[in-house]
Amino acid sequence: MVRTMTESGRIPQFGYKDEVDMNKLVELRSLLKTRLSEGGVAFSYMPVLIKAVSLALVHHPVLNSTVDPDCTTITYRADHNVGVAMDTPLGLIVPNVKRVQEKSVYEIAVELNRLQSLGAAGQLPPVDTADGTFSLSNIGAIGGTYANPMLLPPSVAIGAFGRVKVVPRFDSEGDLERGHVMHVSWAADHRVIDGAEVARFSNRWKNYVENPASMILDMK
Ligand code: COA
Repeated sequence: MVRTMTESGRIPQFGYKDEVDMNKLVELRSLLKTRLSEGGVAFSYMPVLIKAVSLALVHHPVLNSTVDPDCTTITYRADHNVGVAMDTPLGLIVPNVKRVQEKSVYEIAVELNRLQSLGAAGQLPPVDTADGTFSLSNIGAIGGTYANPMLLPPSVAIGAFGRVKVVPRFDSEGDLERGHVMHVSWAADHRVIDGAEVARFSNRWKNYVENPASMILDMK
């Protein structure tokens, strides 16, 4: 952590934050959660948020790249190995779900369950923490709205999710309704990624999350 975060602190990072309408995902999750729990699989928002990242990375592959320490070589990575920051008894550990681009949302949930159990037992093997290409931090599982996530070099982008909150919202008729909202905070290596690219990536990701049914059109 000392080495990685010190190195991260030397990288100029572009921050970008947005608000995400979670109404449809909250509804979808409540439908699927009971079904998956019958098979012993815990289903949080994360598997869908992770899959949406992968679908968005297909169109913005530079965010899934890695750079060498002196930033002279950028390597585009074919696999979407999405790291998930975990608060474990041994402290912060970031195992990654490998090849998310090939996995269904269900398979991501199963893998996340496996990583979470190993993390809670302090038994994550190095293979699960090696070779991440993108990172996410669901700090909202503990609390909070916004965050300033720090890059995990050599990867060039990271996102943090705040807590899903119930808030009053106006519908298209101007009437007040109950809404579920979550904030996302991205950080990207500004030496190799333009702010506009982060904004376009975030918009695409947000569109999937706000309309989870649209994800099936782009899943392989
Ligand atoms: N907003 C509201 N509810 C949330 C939430 C959020 N952002 N994130 C999780 N929850 C809910 C889940 O939906 C679940 O609800 P349920 O009990 O009704 O099923 C419950 O909180 C527990 O979820 P959790 O077991 O934490 O699963 P997860 O897949 O959402 O998150 C981890 C898994 C590993 C990311 C999370 O447990 C964790 O460790 N977060 C901390 C990350 C951290 O420390 N980041 C800082 C890095 S510096």
